[in-house]
Amino acid sequence: MTVFAQLHNAIDYPLRQLFRWGRGGLQWRNESKTELYAQNPAAAAEARRLHATYDLTYFARHSRARSYRENLYYLALIDSALTPPAAGWGRVADIGVSDWFYAHALYAYLKRHHAAPELIGYEADAFRVYNDLHSRQDYAHAYMRGLPSERVIYEPRAFVAQPESYDLVTLFFPFVFERDHLAWGLPRGLFRPQALLAAAWGSVRAGGTLLIVNQGVDEHAAQLAACAAIEAPVAQAARFESPLFHYALPRHVIRADKPAT
Ligand SMILES: C[S@@+](CC[C@H](N)C(=O)[O-])C[C@H]1O[C@@H](n2cnc3c(N)ncnc32)[C@H](O)[C@@H]1O
Repeated sequence: MTVFAQLHNAIDYPLRQLFRWGRGGLQWRNESKTELYAQNPAAAAEARRLHATYDLTYFARHSRARSYRENLYYLALIDSALTPPAAGWGRVADIGVSDWFYAHALYAYLKRHHAAPELIGYEADAFRVYNDLHSRQDYAHAYMRGLPSERVIYEPRAFVAQPESYDLVTLFFPFVFERDHLAWGLPRGLFRPQALLAAAWGSVRAGGTLLIVNQGVDEHAAQLAACAAIEAPVAQAARFESPLFHYALPRHVIRADKPAT
């Protein structure tokens, strides 16, 4: 990244935080899912399994096809990576949610295991403006439609440690390498992946769980090293594959369970 681009990030990001742009009113038409997996019987079977297990009724009737496919993929990934405790997870933080296009998948999973989970999504750059002049937060609110607004909350701010406050903390694709952080328009000074990981781990209560998803083997290896540095005991580190969606870079999952006291 050029010095000019870095300078741009350093100026543009604080301006976004200052003006906090948003204009709401974003919605899109439902798209049919009937033919979605017509050529892919394995994906169709997996989609049926997820529908039989999780309540996706509203989402299936109020979503675009691509978003629906990606949500089913996220749901399958979460479903394979986590083993719910008997009482489920009542308080959950998702860190770095961007526009939270997968909020329905995550909430459907949590709701299956807990009567009324509270899910908070933190995003450090919520006021980035997209080409249609809607902000990232506008998109998030549109993607969250249909979820209980008192239980699913979008926090437009950087995550800071909240010691032992959450039963489950998730990080889907946190920035591990500086080049990705800069490419997403963030200032260099905010790139502190080790500190963010430590804050996430410190916010997991005793007996709780941290879930991290990365893309590519290099990122996965660097993330494992970062977990070792904070002495988070990794209980699972595996590549995740599903017929539901194909990504060029393989997805890897890391789960760390905090010992109960
Ligand atoms: C690669 S994106 C991942 C987005 C999303 N989780 C997904 O699965 O597509 C990483 C996001 O983390 C956000 N982020 C970076 N540092 C953060 C922090 N300290 N607190 C909250 N969000 C942060 C970035 O602004 C960006 O939107």
